[in-house]
Amino acid sequence: MLDGFERNINYLRISVTDRCNFRCVYCMPPQGKKWLEHADILTYEELLRLITVFSGEGVNKIRLTGGEPLVRKGLTEFIAAIKGLGRIRDISLTTNGSLLPPLAAGLKAAGLDRVNISLDTVNPASFARLTTCGRLEDTMKGIESAMAAGLSPVKLNVVLTDALSPRDLAYFVALVYNHPIAVRFIEYMPIGGEGSNRGPDVEKVRRLLSEVGGAKLNPSGTVRGNGPAKYYQFPKAKGAFGFITPISDHFCSACNRLRLTADGKLRPCLLSKEEIDIKTPLRGGASDRELARLFYAAVAAKPEGHTLCRASGFPDFGRSMSQIGG
Ligand code: 5AD
Ligand code: SF4
Repeated sequence: MLDGFERNINYLRISVTDRCNFRCVYCMPPQGKKWLEHADILTYEELLRLITVFSGEGVNKIRLTGGEPLVRKGLTEFIAAIKGLGRIRDISLTTNGSLLPPLAAGLKAAGLDRVNISLDTVNPASFARLTTCGRLEDTMKGIESAMAAGLSPVKLNVVLTDALSPRDLAYFVALVYNHPIAVRFIEYMPIGGEGSNRGPDVEKVRRLLSEVGGAKLNPSGTVRGNGPAKYYQFPKAKGAFGFITPISDHFCSACNRLRLTADGKLRPCLLSKEEIDIKTPLRGGASDRELARLFYAAVAAKPEGHTLCRASGFPDFGRSMSQIGG
C-alpha cells in the first residue's frame, strides 16, 4: 500500500528476537542489556497471523532479523510456515552467520531465499574486538555454508568502522572478482551502541577499492534485493560492491519498509522513536480488520525522511540496533 509520500510499502522486517550470541559494539549498548522476557516476544503463531493480515495489504517481502535470528529455536519451521502461506515472494534473513553451517541447507529447503551476513573485517583480532564475543572463523564458515546451500545472492554487510583495513579491502576485492557475492559497505549509524569507531567515508572506500582492484568500478543495477544499496562492479567480476549511505545520502524517498520489533511494536522508521503497539490488540482479541488498521496507521506514520545528518551528537532512537534489527 502507498504511504503519504507515494512510497509502496510492501516489505516487512521482522525482528524475531532481541538476543544475540555476539555483542557488536555499534549495535548493543556497552553497559550490557536486559533481554526481553519470553512472554513479551511474539510467538510464531502470532507472527504468522500478522503476516497473513499484512500480506492482504500488499506486503509480499519479508526479512527476518534480530538480534541474531538463528538463536531463536524453530526458525526453520517458521520459515516453512511463512512459505506455506503462499503469499510472500521473497524471504530473507540477516545474520551474523556463526550459527548457519548446520542450518543453511534446511533453511533453504524450508523456503528461505537468501541471506545477508555481517562481516566488518577479516582480521581475527579486530573481528573479536568489534563483536566482543564472536569468532571470525565461525562467520567465515557461515558464509561458505550459505553459498553452498544456494542462499543467493549472498550479501555481506560491512559496517564502516575504524577496524576496516587495506587488507580487508584486498580481501573483498578478491571475493567479488571470484564469487557472485555482493559486498555492501554501510555507513555507521549512531544508534544505541558506542559512537567512537566510525570508519572512512564511502567515497574514500570506493576510491581505494578501485585502486586495489586495478579497474574502474562501474555503476550496476543487477543485484536482487529490496534495499537502498547503490551497486558498482568491476568489468570482469562475478560479484559487486554496494554502498548504503543512510547519513551522507539518505534514501528515504525510496523507503518501502515497515519494521516489527520482537515485542510487537510496528516501527514506521528505523531512525524515529515512534512505535505502534500491535501486540496488545493482537493478544486482546483484535479482528483482522483491526490489525489491518494498525498496519495502515504505521504506514501513515512513516516520516518523509530522517534528520540524522542534521542531528548533532547521539539522538535518542528509543532502542539500540539489536532491538530493531537494522
Ligand atoms: N550502523 C550501521 N549498521 C549497523 N548494523 C548494526 N548496527 C549498525 C549501526 N550502528 C548492521 C549490522 C547488520 C545490519 C542489520 O545492520 O551489521 O549487518
Ligand atoms: Fe526508511 Fe526511515 Fe530508513 Fe529513511 S530512515 S530509509 S524513512 S526507515
